[in-house]
Parts: sequence; structure tokens; C-alpha cells
Amino acid sequence: MNSLIKKAKETHSLTKDEIISLLEDNSINEELFKAADEVREENLGSYVHLRGLIEFTNICKRNCLYCGLRRDNKNLKRYRLSEEEILDFGKKAVEYGYKTLVLQGGEDDYFTADRMVSIIKKLKALNVAITLSIGERSFEDYKKFKEAGADRYLIRIETTDKKLYEDMDPGMSHEERKRCLRDLKTLGYEVGSGSLVGLPGQTLSSLADDILFFKKINVDMLGIGPFIPNEDTPLKDAKGGDFTLALKVMAIIRLLLVDINIPATTAMETLNKNGRIIALQSGANVVMPNVTEGEYRKLYALYPGKICTGDTPAHCRSCISSKIHGIGRIISDGYGFRGNKNSPKGN
Ligand code: 5AD
Ligand code: SF4
Ligand code: FES
Repeated sequence: MNSLIKKAKETHSLTKDEIISLLEDNSINEELFKAADEVREENLGSYVHLRGLIEFTNICKRNCLYCGLRRDNKNLKRYRLSEEEILDFGKKAVEYGYKTLVLQGGEDDYFTADRMVSIIKKLKALNVAITLSIGERSFEDYKKFKEAGADRYLIRIETTDKKLYEDMDPGMSHEERKRCLRDLKTLGYEVGSGSLVGLPGQTLSSLADDILFFKKINVDMLGIGPFIPNEDTPLKDAKGGDFTLALKVMAIIRLLLVDINIPATTAMETLNKNGRIIALQSGANVVMPNVTEGEYRKLYALYPGKICTGDTPAHCRSCISSKIHGIGRIISDGYGFRGNKNSPKGN
């Protein structure tokens, strides 16, 4: 076995130079994916956790250059779900067997802390784990959400390269992003982060920094996606990210953080028609099917070619289940908190 992969598998640590050499060397890819798959199996077993994703608002006050929801994109019809619609989608998701609901949205000021607290409390009454993915908020807001019943929070660092981040996300501060991650940890959330792979100007050295950053802050969840250029954004002519490189970043993180939850991301499947299954066989152990209904699925247009936009939640639930069973994996009926291979339910 490649000596660096062996080292990572045994010690769960790598230096920056070692990570760069793994990222550079494409002759070791299959070995890397296999090692990540083995580490996942050893630590987490065959369980795959499903999270029901509710995309509840595509309105965003930010202007990230890569994202179709950016405020200056006038080509997108905007929507905001009512509390009733959110609860309706949540209830249906629970009927389909989801044990976690993820509330994801743009940074939409309509959803004040009070409105979010009301939604979180009502969803929590359905006996599910609640994950939020609604961007940068104050410590006080994060605290209110936690007290209302939120368990987890996703906020990608996108890139640890401060200059690249601040170029890509005009008006946003890298320090503030890190403040959010710290506050969320302090408040006892399971914290998820992640990067976009293939941003213009991003280097392998910078991706290695991202990997070491996730290890240092000990993320509980990690979402890695290739950047996919969107026609309606300033980055429409950019080259975009590479599926294999995104997969490599994900696999290396699995070697370093053996028991975290790693989703096979939708963006991966957009670039490769079997992308989520390949990711599940390269270190990932989570899938987040969309449980939003109707036209909204299409309107949550971060990037083009997003999968499942014309499908129903019921269809996606059975589609992904048969794919997961097809590779001999088990769908967990637990809540899917971090780690704990001993739980008979896959935690
Ligand atoms: N390609 C891939 N992922 C994207 N995101 C935003 N825009 C794009 C794009 N063009 C990701 C960001 C954000 C998450 C909600 O979606 O990483 O954190
Ligand atoms: Fe808004 Fe997030 Fe898109 Fe940035 S990446 S424009 S914060 S939805
Ligand atoms: Fe949506 Fe397969 S998961 S169509």
C-alpha cells in the first residue's frame, strides 16, 4: 500500500506536504478510496443515515460569486415557504422514515429568531433530530435555536484561504465565519462544515489547509462538493471543480476523522451520474434526499443540473433506498449522531 495512505489509515494524521502529495498523485486514487471505505466500515459499519432536506427559502441577502441564490441574480423566481408548508413537508418526511430534518435556506432576514424558534419547536415535536443550515447568525440566535431543539448546524467554511473567501463572498468576513463555527461548538451543536472544490484560484495547498482545518476544529459533519459554474452568476465562465478531486478531499478527511458523518453530496451526483454511490464507497455514510415538494425544488438553484428537481420526495426515498441496498449497505433507523458503532441501530 502507498506509505502515506497506510500512515493515514493507522495514525489518522498527515502533514500538509503529505496531503498535497496525495492530492497530486492520481495513480493512488483507487487505493485511497478503498482505504477510506474500509475506515468507514470499521468505525461506522454499513449504516447509511438519511436526512430529509427542506429547502425553505431561496431568498438570500448575500452575494457569493458562485451561487445562484445570490441577491444580484435577478433571473431567479424567489420563494419562501410558510410555517405551515414547512411543517407539512416535515410531517411527510417523518412518514417516509426520516429521523433527521435539515432546514436549509439562503440568509433570509424574514426568518427572525422568533420565527425560526417557532418552526424548530414544532418540527422537534415530530421526534426528529433537527439540523439547521441558514448561515451566519449571532451567538444569541444560535443559542435560541439550540434551546428550541436544534441539534446540529451546517456552515461550510467554503475555503480556508481568507483572501479567496473574501474575494468570492463580497462583504463577508472569514473571521466572522470562524466565529460562527466556534459559537456553534460552544453551544453544544454537532457542527458541520466543508469546502467547495475547484473555486477559481484555489490550489492543492489551499485544499490541504482546508483538510487540516477540519481536523483541527474536529468537525462532526463534513460536506465536500465540487464547484459547478452557474450561468446566472459572475463565475459563469469559470472552469468548475473536478469530481475526482472532490472525492479525494472527502476520502482523505475520512482517514483523518474516522467517525464523523460525511454526506455523499448532491453536487457530486450532478457531475457524475453515480456520484453519490461512488462517494458512499469512498468514505461517505450519509445521504440527504430532498423532501421539498413541487416547483420549489427547481427554484433552489444553487448550480445547474441539480438532481431530483423533477422528482417527488416519495420517488427519491425509494430511489435512494434501492441504490443503497444495491451496494449492500443498510439504512439506519437511528438519529445518526456522530460515531457510536456499537449501537444496534447504527446510532
Ligand atoms: N456549485 C456547487 N456548490 C455550490 N454552493 C453554492 N453555490 C454552488 C455552486 N455553484 C454550495 C456552497 C454552500 C452550499 C449551500 O451550496 O458550498 O455552502
Ligand atoms: Fe446565500 Fe449561501 Fe448562496 Fe452565499 S452560498 S449566496 S450565503 S445561499
Ligand atoms: Fe431523487 Fe434518485 S434520489 S431521483
